Amino acid sequence: MKILVVGSGGREHAICWKLAQSPKVTELYCAPGNGGIAQVATCVDVKATDVEGMVRWAKDNAMDFVVVAPDDPLALGMVDALEAAGIPAFGPRKNAAIVEASKAFSKELMKKYHIPTAKYQTFTELNAALRYIEEQGAPIVVKADGLALGKGVTVAATEDEAKLAAAEAMGGRKFGDAGATLVIEECMTGPEVTVLAFTDGEFLVCMPSSQDHKRAYTGNKGPNTGGMGAIAPVPGFTNELLKQCVGTIFLPTIAAMKAEGRPFQGVLYFGLMLTPDGPKVVEYNARFGDPECQAVLSLLDSDLLDIMLACRNGTLCNVDIRWKDEAACCLVLASGGYPLEYKKGYPISGLEEAGRTATVFHAGTRLENGQYLTNGGRVLGVTATAPTLDDAIEAAYAAGSHISFRDMHFRTDIGHAF
Ligand code: AMP
Ligand code: GLY
Repeated sequence: MKILVVGSGGREHAICWKLAQSPKVTELYCAPGNGGIAQVATCVDVKATDVEGMVRWAKDNAMDFVVVAPDDPLALGMVDALEAAGIPAFGPRKNAAIVEASKAFSKELMKKYHIPTAKYQTFTELNAALRYIEEQGAPIVVKADGLALGKGVTVAATEDEAKLAAAEAMGGRKFGDAGATLVIEECMTGPEVTVLAFTDGEFLVCMPSSQDHKRAYTGNKGPNTGGMGAIAPVPGFTNELLKQCVGTIFLPTIAAMKAEGRPFQGVLYFGLMLTPDGPKVVEYNARFGDPECQAVLSLLDSDLLDIMLACRNGTLCNVDIRWKDEAACCLVLASGGYPLEYKKGYPISGLEEAGRTATVFHAGTRLENGQYLTNGGRVLGVTATAPTLDDAIEAAYAAGSHISFRDMHFRTDIGHAF
């Protein structure tokens, strides 16, 4: 089969790497891809958000199946457009991708179907939002409704901080129209766990639990990033907790989406907080997390294409999905300055040596005259698996120590931060 993967980050490299192992895949393409993805797929020069261009390219080149990995094209309805053109696609349709694209929608869904989450209210008017903050007091969480590159959330320790965040998002349009509606919610406490699940709209298969490290610096300090590293599975996330989540959160969410006429097919990302009152939803995403995907797919022992096709075709219950009884760690190597300003174009050394004991997924690189250069904020995700989590962490750091580029920065506490 001829397969196209949409996206250009470490997540898409991991998806391509796994799909390339499928005997059914005869040709693999990635749009737009990156320097490392080019090792396993042919990169295609179409932007991930160019819905029309993507459909045209997929049609002209007779793709059999398209995997849409990032949030933006999903929210724009790329899956709908591909399917309308007769090209089967993996990922939720626009009316289901809204679980990520609108926090107001997902909060209302949870309220209606009694799915545990933080208490909240939605606002489209700044003064009402400010009054609510005063009433509720701090700590309190202010969220822009729409997609804001993971930066639309402020966990405010004081009322003033919360009011400033609300004013900037709504009045100042700091996140554009994503901030036209605000969700203001109760501040929860407890460890955070991600569970990614494959679903065909009815049936659901959980992947091993995982944990992202969102802050830029060691010790959970500094600004939020796309994610500086991930582990899987999460110690302490027991089978009992998983069962509880399946019963109170995962299955009710799938059923709720179906009941709303928005069946969700693809990967549903459950961002959970294990609060003193039990697990609650922090957020839904409509796709694999990045870098959780790199850690989790490293543990998959089955054919990813079979699973993705079954999600699309409503036959997930017939697929036998196996996971390695191991642990994984993905260590992100980032450009100096990320997530704020950073420079690109620095040569990367040590990739071959690191690749001997770990899988090095490329997030932001390009290849020029045989030399890999940095080309983004997150540059690489060095991913290792081992029988124990401690060994996986050690192996990821050992492999990562061979790699260098100017101003390279990484956290030294991936897997030990919480
Ligand atoms: P989100 O983009 O919704 O995942 O939020 C980003 C981060 O903000 C989460 O990973 C949490 O660490 C934090 N956060 C979001 N909502 C809450 C909440 N209600 N209580 C405490 N922390 C939160
Ligand atoms: N790693 C978090 C996310 O992909 O949203």
